[in-house]
Amino acid sequence: MSAPRGQFTSNFGFLMAAAGSAVGLGNIWGFPTNVAANGGAAFVVVYLLLAFMLAYPVLMAELSIGRHARRNMVQALRGISTGPVSRGVGTIAGFSGIIVASLILSFYAIVAGWMVAHLADPFATLMGAEESAQWLTGNSAARNLTFTAIFSGLTMLIIASGVEKGIERWSTLLMPALIILLLLLIAYVLFQPGAMQGLEAYLIPDFSKLSPQLMLSAMGQAFFSLSLGVGTMLIYGSYLSKQESLPRLGALVTLIDVGIAFTAGLLILPAMYVAQEAGTQIYSEAGELIAGPGLILQVLPALFDTMGHSGLFVAIAFFALMLIASLTSSISMLEVPVAFAIENLGMKRKPATLLTGLVIFAVSSLIIFNFDALFGLVVSVSTEYGQPLLGVVLCVFAGWIWRRDQLLKELQEGHPHIEQTLFWKIWPWYVRIVCPLLILAAFVQTML
Ligand code: PHE
Repeated sequence: MSAPRGQFTSNFGFLMAAAGSAVGLGNIWGFPTNVAANGGAAFVVVYLLLAFMLAYPVLMAELSIGRHARRNMVQALRGISTGPVSRGVGTIAGFSGIIVASLILSFYAIVAGWMVAHLADPFATLMGAEESAQWLTGNSAARNLTFTAIFSGLTMLIIASGVEKGIERWSTLLMPALIILLLLLIAYVLFQPGAMQGLEAYLIPDFSKLSPQLMLSAMGQAFFSLSLGVGTMLIYGSYLSKQESLPRLGALVTLIDVGIAFTAGLLILPAMYVAQEAGTQIYSEAGELIAGPGLILQVLPALFDTMGHSGLFVAIAFFALMLIASLTSSISMLEVPVAFAIENLGMKRKPATLLTGLVIFAVSSLIIFNFDALFGLVVSVSTEYGQPLLGVVLCVFAGWIWRRDQLLKELQEGHPHIEQTLFWKIWPWYVRIVCPLLILAAFVQTML
């Protein structure tokens, strides 16, 4: 007999965990830099539309399949299948979800490791350890390996403690801290010279930048940001009590995710222009705003350096924010393979965590030693293709394969008068037809 399944103890606990999964580097780094690279508010508008019209319905598909099946993605998709073909497809998609979630974690842990190293840097400076400070911010393989290991270790410690004592407890502690840090940093940065120019770049739309490529970036960003396609939300849904309303909780998770991404833009873009005012280069040679690692690891630290002593504290606050955001997301990624190992391989939670955590760390190490060849490739395969395509499969399962009366019954649990809501009237059809078509159309469009 296997141990009883974990369950979130309250809807607040679930909300913090699911929002914690959603809110991550994708919001605080990915979203603002995508905005900067794609015509400011034009991207924001497209993103908001896609988040509510596409990502929210897919999120609902994952949450309802998960809560219904009370199992990991492989078992859940097999469980709602109706014949050998759908069972086969379900098994393949379920395994792909687990692999993609693990691949995402393998690169995410490297990036989060950079955040830990940059968090340690101001402490080294305060203690006068100049050499260590230089090592911490240099980009050596040894440094990357060390901090990826530290971050992966933290993720494993939380997951080893289980759903209530690990995921729920840490998410409810860390998410409020994240919001407070974010607001404090915004309040500080907005009063620095140059900040208003950043707000303009963020909030004034340049619709001439709209293109199929922009649509695809916005879609990828929405899928990544809401942790979709890879069974993360499915497994969190499987730990949710039948007394909670799924449509309401799903909407809240989407709102928090989008809200924090938007708010993070109020920090990052003004901070870039404040950095420019202080003498840092914020445009690349091609005349584009610096986005990727250069922004977080060079432009912003250069800005903190110009702020003297207070800059050390701002740096600590900023990288603590990034670390918290990463950790509440990485635990949700690791839970995907761990739940599979527990449920399908009959392992206990602690050894399952150790085993999957170490395998993923081995993949991270491989990426670190072949960074130029592998990093971009893994990011693109897992997030640009893996997540949206698996999203299509989940919609097909929720809309076409799952028995309709069972789907509707699952939605009624915890939401008694749902028949009278707009959600009920629209969503089941919408997820069946509109969502898969929209996702596929976005792909086809970029190939033309
Ligand atoms: N949503 C997380 C972020 O924005 C990333 C993530 C992707 C988490 C997939 C879980 C699964 O950073």
